[in-house]
Amino acid sequence: MLESLVNRCRSLPAGSTLCILGAGFSGQRLAALAEALNIRVLTTRRNPEPDSGALRFDTASKVVPGESDLRGVTHLLSTIPPGRDQNDPVLRTLGAQLRQLPLRWVGYLSTTGIYGNTEGNWVSESDPPQPTQDRSRRRLICEQEWQNSGLPVQILRLPGIYGPGRSPLAAVQAGTLKPVQKPGQVFCRVHIDDIAAACLHLMHCSAAGQHPPVVNVCDHEPAPSHVMQRHAAELLNCDLPEARSYADAEADMSAMARTFWAENRRVSNDLLCKTLGYSMIHPTFRSGLAQCLMEERLMGRLSQNAPD
Ligand SMILES: NC(=O)c1ccc[n+]([C@@H]2O[C@H](COP(=O)([O-])OP(=O)(O)OC[C@H]3O[C@@H](n4cnc5c(N)ncnc54)[C@H](OP(=O)(O)O)[C@@H]3O)[C@@H](O)[C@H]2O)c1
Repeated sequence: MLESLVNRCRSLPAGSTLCILGAGFSGQRLAALAEALNIRVLTTRRNPEPDSGALRFDTASKVVPGESDLRGVTHLLSTIPPGRDQNDPVLRTLGAQLRQLPLRWVGYLSTTGIYGNTEGNWVSESDPPQPTQDRSRRRLICEQEWQNSGLPVQILRLPGIYGPGRSPLAAVQAGTLKPVQKPGQVFCRVHIDDIAAACLHLMHCSAAGQHPPVVNVCDHEPAPSHVMQRHAAELLNCDLPEARSYADAEADMSAMARTFWAENRRVSNDLLCKTLGYSMIHPTFRSGLAQCLMEERLMGRLSQNAPD
């Protein structure tokens, strides 16, 4: 599964230990990649399966890994989102312990939502954040806390994350997906393989002295959601209903979904790809969806009746 991904990534120096706080969708992918590269990896979950080897970490109940659990950690990624209050939950519960570790690189997964609404214009790391949603304002506070933590932090700002198990393919095949379009509206996205590979790339850049404080990790082609969904239908050889106008669909949407449609921006990956030399594994949703199709079929999430 991971072979092509593994082949294009470099391991970390001998003696490195990577700790991933929050081995959810993105965290698990990085853990799998790092293990395949023979990197020593520790992961945390709130309720780990007994035999999974993951450490228990839940900021809400203040269950934290012990000092001996984290001994020797050199690289760390936090995927844990902000809580309801204003502080970053990881720094609040584990910050003092993290400062005792021999950390060389600390990644914090944030969101491009902190840029707010640019009316479809391009935005980069040098533009000031202008969050419009409460969750993005909380996120920006967490970013600032990480940056002021005294740790060697790099903020990775992510757009919509997709990958096997989180793609439109299953809903398209089940006939439950109802596309929506709004004139001029695009969404940015990133495949989890690029999150995992970009993390490793940034660790190597940092070791070589290139360590910008904030990096956008997104693909090259912001695109309307219905265009991606239409492509998914073509890959599956399935019918997809005509896209409804946003004006008609809005009343049926959840409040959360409406907040996503209220912002429209194109997020630049020039810093990652041009300055730091990262080459996207999935430059657009087309190759990303093809990868999802292959892996979701292997996982048995999609029926096999579509042509290859
Ligand atoms: N989904 C998107 O499209 C998107 C877009 C931009 C940014 N982001 C952000 O990027 C990060 C990674 O996204 P993802 O989709 O990979 O996230 P995910 O699958 O939801 O994983 C989040 C991880 O954080 C852990 N976690 C959550 N609350 C916690 C708490 N109070 N204490 C300890 N651990 C906690 C979860 O633990 P369990 O494993 O126990 O559940 C999980 O392992 C998140 O911060 C997310 O908000 C997501």
